[in-house]
Amino acid sequence: MQGHVQSVHRHRRQSRRHAADGTNAVRNRIASLKHDADLALQRFADLRERSADGDANPRLLDEVLEELSVALHELQAGSDELREQNERLLVAENRLSEERRRYQELFEFGPDGYLVTTATAVIREANRMAAALLGVTTATLFSKPLSVFVHIDRRPAFRTLINSMAAGEMTTQTLETSIVRRGGGEFPAVLRVTAARSPRTANVELRWTLRDVSTERAAQLDLLAQIEERKRAEDSLRGSELRYRHLVEHATDIVYELDGSGRFIFCNERATQRILGYTERELLGRRLLDLVPRGHQKAVRAFAKRQLQHPGQENYFEFPVLSKDQRTVWLGQHVSPVLHGKELRIQAICRDISAQVDRVAQLTQTGEQWRDLSAHLQSQIEAERARIAQDIHDELGAALTAIRMELALPSISADSEIAQPGRRNAAVIRRIDAAIEAMRRICSDLRPSLLDNMGLCAAIEWLAQDVQERAGIRCQVVLQGFNKEPEPNKGTAIFRIVQEAMTNAIRHAKASKVRISQRINGEAAVISIADDGRGIKTEELSGRKSFGIVGMQERAQSFGGKVTISGGRRGTRVTVRIPTS
Ligand SMILES: Nc1ncnc2c1ncn2[C@@H]1O[C@H](COP(=O)(O)OP(=O)(O)OP(=O)(O)O)[C@@H](O)[C@H]1O
Ligand SMILES: [Mg+2]
Repeated sequence: MQGHVQSVHRHRRQSRRHAADGTNAVRNRIASLKHDADLALQRFADLRERSADGDANPRLLDEVLEELSVALHELQAGSDELREQNERLLVAENRLSEERRRYQELFEFGPDGYLVTTATAVIREANRMAAALLGVTTATLFSKPLSVFVHIDRRPAFRTLINSMAAGEMTTQTLETSIVRRGGGEFPAVLRVTAARSPRTANVELRWTLRDVSTERAAQLDLLAQIEERKRAEDSLRGSELRYRHLVEHATDIVYELDGSGRFIFCNERATQRILGYTERELLGRRLLDLVPRGHQKAVRAFAKRQLQHPGQENYFEFPVLSKDQRTVWLGQHVSPVLHGKELRIQAICRDISAQVDRVAQLTQTGEQWRDLSAHLQSQIEAERARIAQDIHDELGAALTAIRMELALPSISADSEIAQPGRRNAAVIRRIDAAIEAMRRICSDLRPSLLDNMGLCAAIEWLAQDVQERAGIRCQVVLQGFNKEPEPNKGTAIFRIVQEAMTNAIRHAKASKVRISQRINGEAAVISIADDGRGIKTEELSGRKSFGIVGMQERAQSFGGKVTISGGRRGTRVTVRIPTS
């Protein structure tokens, strides 16, 4: 607005100057014409005097008359021109005052406060906004020093500004200050001042723009607060980054990061060097896969591929790597792929588990040895049982049978013609029959002869029959049979597993019914023993004293099979799956 006000003044000055220039030219011309006409009139008066004296030259008179007429004519033209010029001047004056009114309005109703003061900042003019901002009417502002509205603490700066303006530095200056509104209230403001000469008095005057910048200041403060907040966040981030870096650097596990092509871009030097012998610099840029022994590379590659398909998902994987001195070091790794911009990277924390791997290998080996030993012992026990059963059957059985026959023979009494076994003998025979029966049961319990003579299915059917008779549990048997009788050791193992499951059903389940079923499923025989008893609990399955269950599993495993036991409220089901071939 300051610029507008200045340009109004300039415009007005120029217009006036132009108008004045035009008018002056016409006036000068008329003056010169008048001068010409005066000369002509003078000459005419001379001529008339001379003609009265009688020495007038008629030709000269004509000339003078002619000159006079031209002068009058030109005078007339000049006067017309002057009138036209006056009319134009009037139009220009009207336009000028219209323009002035418009600029006055702009000045009055401008969005900022405008003030005109003396060089010492005494107010001469002010628009409405200025009055509104200062909390007074425009009339009250007249003759007031502008400084009274400046906050007392900010007045020295204001004075410095006025002084610098007075020192003739007629530039435009800006001052950020605080204005105290009359009637209370204070606001941050920007004062802009330009020194100029008053068109009326030609004295130096100051033209001010006053703007309330509280909104901008609030926004600035808000921005500052945000910047401060971000700085604090960055500081704390830097702090936690340092903390994490320290933790990573001093970790006993290896921490590494691979880029999208599987090359090292970071590893914690201490742990890496301690476990693998490499420094960070030696690993940076190298592919992890190059450290993996050939035999494991395929598995590692497949694992990495799976990993990269599920960013953000952590996984555990164990594989060996070769240390700098070519030792095989097994690493247990927690691996997670992370998105870094658009690149998918792999971060991992890994521990040297070589000792555990060795121990597991040893344990596996020991376990296998135990399993072999157990299988060997089982077969020896079976052979021994068979031999004992055979011996008992053959020798004790034969002896008992012979004694029974002896006793059963009629005794030859001298005084009797009818041969009859004595009464005492009959009682002994009954006892011997019971002993023979007990002997048979012992032999069957040791090893059912059916298993060797009639095969597995017959032995299982006999077992079910025996359980039903002895324990009073209803046994249902559904056997599909085998295409080929399992070889004796395997047959014995299956029989013993079924026997143990039946014994458990009698001893623990309080079952009223057991169902044994057998079928062939592909290459395997599947036998299940299900009772309707109380059911087995999970903790009972893994009980340390559950040798029956362990024995079942051991037997099945030694033939490449397995036993699964499931239990619920409706009884227990033992399922044996053993390859037939
Ligand atoms: N059919 C079943 N119903 C309910 N509980 C069972 C059944 N079979 C086994 N159990 C439970 O599981 C436990 C372990 O069985 P397991 O055959 O291993 O040992 P056991 O029968 O107690 O002793 P062992 O068989 O060595 O003479 C049993 O003690 C019993 O509590
Ligand atoms: Mg048992």
